[in-house]
Amino acid sequence: MRAVLGCRQVPISALEADQFEALFTHLIAMLGDAESVDQPRFQPITDSDSAIPEPTRQWFVHGAEVAVGEGGWRRVWVVQDAAAQIIAHVDLRATADHAAMDRCLLGMGVRGGHRRLGLGTRLLDFVERWAADQGLRAIDLEVLAENLPAIALYRRLGYQPAGEGVDVDGSALLQMSKALR
Ligand SMILES: CC(C)(COP(=O)(O)OP(=O)(O)OC[C@H]1O[C@@H](n2cnc3c(N)ncnc32)[C@H](O)[C@@H]1OP(=O)(O)O)[C@@H](O)C(=O)NCCC(=O)NCCS
Repeated sequence: MRAVLGCRQVPISALEADQFEALFTHLIAMLGDAESVDQPRFQPITDSDSAIPEPTRQWFVHGAEVAVGEGGWRRVWVVQDAAAQIIAHVDLRATADHAAMDRCLLGMGVRGGHRRLGLGTRLLDFVERWAADQGLRAIDLEVLAENLPAIALYRRLGYQPAGEGVDVDGSALLQMSKALR
């Protein structure tokens, strides 16, 4: 039986070892949503980005075996619909800065058609509690400056602007952080 970790009404499940392909299918579908749904981009998209690159796949798979606090760890949680299709995900991962192993980076996505229902909020609430329980001190993230829905969500949940950057295609990035208690 899968371990289902409840988060009020919405069941949030830790991704199982046999679900990575389903996760990659979901991530590719998210890219499709960004092209077809009337929503801002959430990452630079080119034709060559339409599949998940192998190094990224490997990081998801191998990161799941790495202890939290060590370099390269990564954990994923998902929400599935009645047909067991992944409709939302959130992932936490180690920062590249080995001097900041008590922080982590966040990524997330909710499929078009399931947005504005509170799923993003529930996923963030869930991983913030999980990260605090692990002894992590803060969650960091980078978001495209044009991605106003995501920025609105993060601001509402208490994430503060922490810096600016530029993505691979020159797009403006906003860095945000939230300290955990
Ligand atoms: C950003 C995203 C995760 C939000 O998920 P969600 O499940 O729709 O979020 P919620 O329903 O919990 O929204 C909570 C609040 O965030 C803000 N928000 C979310 N979407 C918004 C939008 N399109 N416009 C304005 N505010 C928005 C609102 O304050 C909202 O509260 P409200 O619905 O009561 O007004 C979702 O739009 C998404 O997956 N986008 C594409 C991927 C992405 O951008 N990922 C983040 C990359 S850093």
